[in-house]
Amino acid sequence: MDQLKSNGLEGKVAFITGAARGQGRSHALALARAGVDIVAVDIADQIPTVSYAMASREDLDETVALVEKEDRRCLPIVADVRDIHAMQRAADQAVAEFGRIDIVLANAGILITARGEQSIDEAAAAWDDGIGVMLSGVYNTVRVTAPVLVDGGAGGSIVITSSTAGLNGMHDGTGGMAAYTAAKHGVIGLMRGYAKLLGKHGIRVNTVHPMGVATPMVINPQFEEFYRGGEAMLETQPRLLPIQILDPNDISNAILWLVSDAARAVTGITLPVDAGVTTP
Ligand SMILES: NC(=O)c1ccc[n+]([C@@H]2O[C@H](COP(=O)([O-])OP(=O)(O)OC[C@H]3O[C@@H](n4cnc5c(N)ncnc54)[C@H](O)[C@@H]3O)[C@@H](O)[C@H]2O)c1
Repeated sequence: MDQLKSNGLEGKVAFITGAARGQGRSHALALARAGVDIVAVDIADQIPTVSYAMASREDLDETVALVEKEDRRCLPIVADVRDIHAMQRAADQAVAEFGRIDIVLANAGILITARGEQSIDEAAAAWDDGIGVMLSGVYNTVRVTAPVLVDGGAGGSIVITSSTAGLNGMHDGTGGMAAYTAAKHGVIGLMRGYAKLLGKHGIRVNTVHPMGVATPMVINPQFEEFYRGGEAMLETQPRLLPIQILDPNDISNAILWLVSDAARAVTGITLPVDAGVTTP
């Protein structure tokens, strides 16, 4: 941890979407341990097209309590990344509370699965929500926070959570999965554009691409039923390392490096954290 602190993280502020649980909470705690204050943004509500239980207000409060245990401040904000005005208010609130944002993690996501035939209306609803959260939501997040980093004049780091589905493609014929793959590919274009736009300000922009991670998004009865036992999907992809599923901390460790001064020359990259699944 001392090494990370000396890598320029102490005293910084991170704005994290999807921070109520799962990977977002893990990133919040890892950064807090490295001396970073946290703005924890989450919808803390259910989106009707999502079949598993999404995070609750209690989950968000638990993230706050865990960050505070690390002696860092944590500002919880309930906001839907699909709503750019709510996100603008969140960024304003973050600045009012902390005076700055140095790190942005656009992490919020949903996985809409469906069994059997979907009507075109069901497919369209799943597509809209998937693209809304994971492509428009990422744009909204970066759009409202990037000006704060630029105005701060101290550089910064933006990390967008994509997926191996953003490199390999993954589709089962449903609107939800089409949206997932399209959004996770789409954020690479967004990342590359912003890396070029913001580089002159010392702001680095990158994507991370995890394979399956043990969070409530995939560890839930609906997903297990959908993939007949829960592991069928994970086993369809050959991996080079004998790792079945990732721990959220595997992604947090990659992000800790990416946002630290140790990665000061790294921008515009798509970083797989995937046991080699996407190795050509
Ligand atoms: N779990 C996996 O296997 C896996 C693999 C690769 C990539 N990912 C990606 O990692 C990211 C984090 O997912 P996770 O695994 O921690 O899942 P998770 O379901 O545990 O956490 C996602 C969080 O995002 C929040 N969220 C969803 N929609 C939102 C919205 N519209 N506005 C604000 N917050 C919203 C949820 O409430 C939840 O707290 C997602 O982008 C996901 O697509 C997950």
